[in-house]
Amino acid sequence: MKYANTIDLVNSNETQADFKRWSGHGLVSIGLVNPKSATNVASILRACGCYGASAVFYTGQRFGYAKNFNADTRQMRHIIPTIGVDDLLAIAPKDASKVVIELVEGAIPLPEFVHPENAFYIFGPEDASVPEDIVAACDHVVYIPTRNSMNLAATANVVLYDRMAKSDYVANDELIKKSRDNNNGLAI
Ligand SMILES: C[S@@+](CC[C@H](N)C(=O)[O-])C[C@H]1O[C@@H](n2cnc3c(N)ncnc32)[C@H](O)[C@@H]1O
Repeated sequence: MKYANTIDLVNSNETQADFKRWSGHGLVSIGLVNPKSATNVASILRACGCYGASAVFYTGQRFGYAKNFNADTRQMRHIIPTIGVDDLLAIAPKDASKVVIELVEGAIPLPEFVHPENAFYIFGPEDASVPEDIVAACDHVVYIPTRNSMNLAATANVVLYDRMAKSDYVANDELIKKSRDNNNGLAI
């Protein structure tokens, strides 16, 4: 699937309706501030495929230079638009609440956070933090109460899991059969 490198496509009613059908519960997109490791971005794409996020936007050049997509084993970059942008705040999808995920004093602990239906989650780079201007412009700032800072992709997985766990999620054997590898026929 080929995506034009344009925001209009992601914000179009048709595309948003498609994403909504797929994720089943609201709209989710991800913003990455200058990610360093392509493996982390690939792991985030895989998480987007698992939990149902519609687009990944990233700033900076480092991801573009490092094209090692080993972790994206489901080839999610062909399904989920993965778009380089200059400014994450300018790209925020239509009507999305901007949610910074970062270790910021005064932030809301993730277990207490009520996820907006239409959310744009913004994460910092592996070797820095979400810049102050983005933190100041966001609707919510959330942190995960850990003893050390987490790996970027692990953080995105935890946030998307938390969102799913707090939603009206589907849980049945059909989903297990659809999700697992072909060679896995395990049952209890
Ligand atoms: C490896 S961390 C970078 C260092 C981090 N900014 C710090 O101050 O320790 C990469 C990104 O993962 C996210 N992150 C990692 N641990 C987190 C936590 N416990 N709570 C919220 N965000 C976290 C943030 O978005 C962060 O910018």
